[in-house]
Amino acid sequence: MQFSTKALPIDKTRTGCVVIPVLAGSKLGASAKAIDAATGKRLGAALASGDLAPKAGSTLLVHLEGAVARALLVATGDKATLDERVYSQVVRGAFRSLRGQGSKDAIALLHEVEVEGRDLAWKIRTAALAAREAAYRFDRFKSKPESGPSGPGTIAFAVDKADQATARTAAGQAGAIANGMDLARDLGNTPGNICTPGHLAQTARDLGKEFDLKVQVLGEKQMAALKMNALLAVAKGSAQPPHLITIEYRGAGARQAPVALVGKGITFDTGGISLKPAAEMDEMKWDMMGAASVLGTIRAVAELKLPINVVGIIATAENMPGGQATRPGDIVTSMSGQTIEILNTDAEGRLVLCDALTYAARFKPAAVVDIATLTGACVVALGKHHSGLFSRGDELADELLAAGQAMADTCWRMPLDDEYQELLKSPFADVANIGGRYGGAITAACFLARFTKDYDWAHLDIAGTAWHSGASKGSTGRPVPLLTGFLMNRAGN
Ligand code: BES
Ligand code: MN
Ligand code: ZN
Repeated sequence: MQFSTKALPIDKTRTGCVVIPVLAGSKLGASAKAIDAATGKRLGAALASGDLAPKAGSTLLVHLEGAVARALLVATGDKATLDERVYSQVVRGAFRSLRGQGSKDAIALLHEVEVEGRDLAWKIRTAALAAREAAYRFDRFKSKPESGPSGPGTIAFAVDKADQATARTAAGQAGAIANGMDLARDLGNTPGNICTPGHLAQTARDLGKEFDLKVQVLGEKQMAALKMNALLAVAKGSAQPPHLITIEYRGAGARQAPVALVGKGITFDTGGISLKPAAEMDEMKWDMMGAASVLGTIRAVAELKLPINVVGIIATAENMPGGQATRPGDIVTSMSGQTIEILNTDAEGRLVLCDALTYAARFKPAAVVDIATLTGACVVALGKHHSGLFSRGDELADELLAAGQAMADTCWRMPLDDEYQELLKSPFADVANIGGRYGGAITAACFLARFTKDYDWAHLDIAGTAWHSGASKGSTGRPVPLLTGFLMNRAGN
């Protein structure tokens, strides 16, 4: 699906479908009125029939004759100024119903409605992301694709001449973010027998080729030489070799310190010897969404050619039980020199991350953000709307909170006080890898904090937000929008 822009008026422009917002069940905007006048008042008649349900996001398709083949009327509710949530409902409803029909191209006017506190660029970006979301398919493993057409091949946003440049930039940003999200979602939805640590490494190499990025993949021997024993301990029960992947995007001068994104890439998490229960264990194929969102974000940043340096660091392994597996009670020495008593082999994310975070210091980063499906406790605390955000630094935390807001990919700040460090005490080693029943998302973050003393750092726990459970289960592509927005802001865009 491609995005473009068109200059108003559009009543004589040839198109498969015009997507028109309708206020309070009947009111059309100026551009829609012009189309109505040019098509024998079919739109007015359709609305008068009462066939468009008033609820925001409900739709009515009207066939026309002439240049404009169809109009999709989309209800926006009864308030002249929409809030962000209602606008999202409207654009989602519109593009969902558009994918079911045969229009090869479409012109959108949805961004003509007022949204409280949001400008044209935001409205176009949000609509374009909703269009790509509706068009997303993952049918690689179906012998026959079951779903119908995924929507029009091109969507043009019609705006006044003066707004063309703004609209083009916003649509381009949405396209790049959606490409990054699709990459992350595809990786997440690919099962553990195919999406292995080696598969993530190959994906990074492919991305490196496409966008001319430096990619390095460390194997077991090299990691052993670096003393990454916490990471290696997680992989011991698996037949799949672990990797530490780095992928560097250089959009700014060599002297600019990079932002490092560090992703948890557990391609399947059985829990190891501390085996998880069987129910819904399939969901643990998404336990690499931190890594996938790093690759997706790098893809978006590279496509947008942002003037900023970003390095992605991915710690990837499979967490399996087995005769060689790490046992509860085992003690390992991490790359940082700190010894860790592994009391629960299911708390493996922090083990692979701690060595990757120590390694990150080599890049002398301006800031480090790690992204991980780290704890079930975070899902209990925040549900599936907000990712958990942990940081000692208020400025970095505020940047991430704001980027999440702007991209409708929100996070919520959680505490990280040293008081919680007490819970990680071990009688035998410097630190234990679990902190007991209470505050599990916080103690996990506190564990990571011990390895991030040398730079500005934030941690995103995406256990609740990276995928949908239930009947329509699948990867969401979050937090690619948040991270890309954060880097866009840092790059001064
Ligand atoms: N990958 C899981 C976290 C997770 C659980 C994400 C459920 C999404 C849904 C992580 O490796 C894990 O198993 N964490 C344990 C930690 C515990 C043993 C301290 C958890 O959350 O139960
Ligand atoms: Mn686990
Ligand atoms: Zn895990």
